[in-house]
Amino acid sequence: MPESISEVALTSAHTVSQAKKPLRIAVLVSGSGSNLQVLINAMQASALPIEIVGVISNREDAYAITRAKDASIPVAVLSHVASGKRMGIKTFESHASEQLKVWQPDLIVLAGFMRVLSGPFIDNAPAPMINLHPALLPAYKGLDTHQRAIQAGERHHGCSIHVVTAELDAGAVLTQALLAVNQKDTADSLQARVQKLEHQLLPWTILLLAKGALSLGTAPLAHQQNTFMPTLPLKLYLND
Ligand code: GRF
Repeated sequence: MPESISEVALTSAHTVSQAKKPLRIAVLVSGSGSNLQVLINAMQASALPIEIVGVISNREDAYAITRAKDASIPVAVLSHVASGKRMGIKTFESHASEQLKVWQPDLIVLAGFMRVLSGPFIDNAPAPMINLHPALLPAYKGLDTHQRAIQAGERHHGCSIHVVTAELDAGAVLTQALLAVNQKDTADSLQARVQKLEHQLLPWTILLLAKGALSLGTAPLAHQQNTFMPTLPLKLYLND
């Protein structure tokens, strides 16, 4: 039974339960890992009730690996080019699955992870998965989001955090951060501005999940009855 409303963690059943321990997070990356760094900094400063239990990279040249190692976080490099041969998604998923079972995360965060995962992998993962996407979903799923937003003459753009499902970038959107597109914005400038928002949106969202203010499940459970359930997506107006 819960001992305190602040002692909250996610369970593998995609619901929220009470726990004294910090939220155990596994992070999947493919690139620079600036979002991972934000989480590392927050964890080290005790600004978020999290423990990053491991990082999986599908690229051996990802700078995110260095960031994780510098913070003494276990890393599994499951390169998509293993021994000169492309590792198929099934092989990647079977290694990733084994690793995640060892780490036993409460939440899996895809932060700049650039491989599409299969339905069975997502469904059988030991924890729910969220993804950070650089657009205001459901608009601009997929790649080149900033360029496409500019070409379409969008006045607003931003980033979203959504539940990962088998359909690409289509799971329930939990949170969004928005900005106004400037006339002078290029795809590069917009990417830089949106990334600043991502660095705020990701820790905010994890905090809301860890505190039970947001749920990944659809039906509230008995022990969640006191939880405030906002209409999703929760739009955060952050300074960019
Ligand atoms: C982010 O901009 C994210 O939106 C996109 O990939 C980028 C990852 O950045 N999917 P980083 O690796 O966290 O620096």
